[in-house]
Amino acid sequence: MPEERTEQPHIVTCTAPVNIAVIKYWGKRNEDLILPINSSLSVTLHQDQLKTTTTVATSRSFQEDRIWLNGKEEDITHPRLQSCLREIRRLARKRRNDGDSGVDSASLSHKVHICSVNNFPTAAGLASSAAGFACLVYTLARVFGVEGELSGIARQGSGSACRSMYGGFVQWIMGNKEDGKDSLAQQVEPETHWPELRILVLVASAERKPVGSTSGMQTSVKTSCLLKHRAESVVPGRMVEMTEAIRKKDFAAFAELTMKDSNQFHATCLDTYPPIFYLNHVSQQIISLVHRYNKHYGETRVAYTFDAGPNAVIFTLQQHVPEFVHVVQHFFPPETNGADFIKGLPVNCASLSEELKQGIGLEPMPKGINYIISTKVGPGPCVVEDPTQQLLSSDGFPK
Ligand code: DP6
Repeated sequence: MPEERTEQPHIVTCTAPVNIAVIKYWGKRNEDLILPINSSLSVTLHQDQLKTTTTVATSRSFQEDRIWLNGKEEDITHPRLQSCLREIRRLARKRRNDGDSGVDSASLSHKVHICSVNNFPTAAGLASSAAGFACLVYTLARVFGVEGELSGIARQGSGSACRSMYGGFVQWIMGNKEDGKDSLAQQVEPETHWPELRILVLVASAERKPVGSTSGMQTSVKTSCLLKHRAESVVPGRMVEMTEAIRKKDFAAFAELTMKDSNQFHATCLDTYPPIFYLNHVSQQIISLVHRYNKHYGETRVAYTFDAGPNAVIFTLQQHVPEFVHVVQHFFPPETNGADFIKGLPVNCASLSEELKQGIGLEPMPKGINYIISTKVGPGPCVVEDPTQQLLSSDGFPK
């Protein structure tokens, strides 16, 4: 290859997915390395509906590392960003010294410009840090010619980000080494494994969450003996059961475990002192609705799970989506018309029987839910080849 004479930056763009835990991560044993007190398991959501896109440029002419998030320049000295940058550069240097990287030492010393956007509103209160850090690490790795296991680096950006490094069904094995080398994510089943599984994100409120996950779990670790019991005595068994339910595509078992684990996570929040409340009256109404719906049919057709905020994530099978969406629409009459209420994968029409409405028997709660995002299980991070999708111009600055 002739020596590169141009000052044009080297630019790479990638996308990464959001994931939703069905066995929750809550609590760290090491704050700096982000090592959890229990393993966790998640479903990767499809990037057609929810994704982060990140462009990274490197150039000899850049003076310093810089980052722009959703159109605004942010502080690159943030410790978790620094951890990811440092670890990728360390890995790249190691690979180069071992002789299995195409990256030359000059470009390793180049500064980076990073630009990142979400295709969903941050105000929706959906976990964006997982997709964000997964995308950052994946893109940086491409820029510096690093391949292979990267979830241990994404983990150092945000714990749940390590699970967004893979598609399908993913476990984060807690590991037990002090240095965290064995605390990694691993795919349990690929995204093609359970094509009938559907996910509905019920956006309940646009408010920001009251207590962030990082500080919330810190207080829980310090004060909740229920959390200690959960991590030591409940989660290990549930990891095995959940993996088995997914492997067998046993929806009832998957759904029941998902709901129980969400409930136990929120119970540990209540057991935290002072207590943390993430569920609001809309979330509680959704919980009742799901249980009454399942009871009406005498089988578990739908499951809910909630993270550190009031939005519900619903799991169901394709055949139940139209009816359940209309149940939600009936019991949470929206402000907007029907078309705006449902985003993402198209949902067929369905009529609701009087018998079902009466069987559920809840008082409708107008405007309780802003909108629904209909999606499915999806693949892990990927490279965007189309140069028109780049977020940085050819000079390496935001477009
Ligand atoms: C409730 O990964 O956001 O969503 O590691 O401090 O960045 P940090 O926390 P974060 O916590 C996510 C907690 C959760 C459950 C889960 O995703 O497993």
